[in-house]
Amino acid sequence: MATTVFDASAQAMPPFTARGATVTLRGVSKAFGTHHVLHGIDLDIPPREFVAVVGRSGCGKSTLLRLLAGLDEPTAGSIAIGERREDRNRAVRLMFQEPRLLPWQRVAANVSVGLRHAQTRRERRTLAEDALLQVGLAGRERHWPLVLSGGQKQRVALARALVSDPGLLLLDEPLGALDALTRIEMQDLIESVWLDKSFTAIMVTHDVGEAVALADRILLLEQGRIALDIEVDLPRPRHRGDAAAADIEGRVLDRLLRRQRG
Ligand SMILES: Nc1ncnc2c1ncn2[C@@H]1O[C@H](COP(=O)(O)OP(=O)(O)O)[C@@H](O)[C@H]1O
Ligand SMILES: [Mg+2]
Repeated sequence: MATTVFDASAQAMPPFTARGATVTLRGVSKAFGTHHVLHGIDLDIPPREFVAVVGRSGCGKSTLLRLLAGLDEPTAGSIAIGERREDRNRAVRLMFQEPRLLPWQRVAANVSVGLRHAQTRRERRTLAEDALLQVGLAGRERHWPLVLSGGQKQRVALARALVSDPGLLLLDEPLGALDALTRIEMQDLIESVWLDKSFTAIMVTHDVGEAVALADRILLLEQGRIALDIEVDLPRPRHRGDAAAADIEGRVLDRLLRRQRG
C-alpha cells in the first residue's frame, strides 16, 4: 500500500531565506493592446545579486517590475522566481517612490501590514520592531506617519518590505523624491540591509550614479529591450566619485544619451 509522507519540515522551511531568489526570464514580452512595451526579454539573475535597471522614461522599467512582482502577467514568455512559482507572492516585495503608508495606522501597524494575518499579535509586533530597528527607526513604533520626514517614511516603507523576509526585493525609483543627502543615507541603508539579509535586489533608478554606487550589475532598457548589461565589479563600500565608478557611469550615460565616446 502506498504511503503519503507529509514532510512538515519542508513545508515550514522558507525556501528563499538567507540566500535570495533566483530570477529567470525567458522571452518575456508585454503589450498593452497594440502598444508593445517589452520585447522578448531573456534574463538570469543569480541569488543575492543587486541589479539596477536604468533607461529613459517610458522604456518599460516599471512594467518589468510589475511583471516580476506578479501584479501583471506577460503577454508572452515565462518568469520564474526562486524554485517554486507558487511562493512568488510571499517572497517578492515591491517598494515605490511614494511610501504609501496608511495615515490612520501607527508606524508599527504600517510595517506589519507586510505580514500574514496568521501570525499572533505578539509575533507581528516583534517582527515589526526588528524591521524598524534594521532601518534605524527603533522606538518609533507608536508614531503616526504624519509626523515623519520624507526619508523616515521611506524607511518605514523599507521596513514593511523587509518584515516578511523577502527573497526578492524590487525597488521602483524608491529614492526619487528625496533630497540629495537623505538619498545618500538611504542608499547606504539599502546597501547595508541587502548585505545583511542577502536577498536579491532589482532597483529601477533614473540616477546612473546611484546605480553604480549600489549595483553588481546595471541593465539599460531601451525601447523594451536590454541594450546594455554591464557588471560593476567595484569593491564595497564604494566611494562616490572614484575614477573606476565614473568610467562605468560615463559608459552608461553615453549609451543613454546616444553619445559617441572619443
Ligand atoms: N496599464 C497600462 N496600460 C497601458 N499602457 C501602459 C500601462 N502601463 C504602462 N503603459 C505604457 O507602457 C510604457 C512603459 O511604461 P513604464 O513601464 O511605466 O515606463 P518607465 O517606468 O520606464 O518610465 C509607457 O508608454 C506607458 O504609457
Ligand atoms: Mg516607471
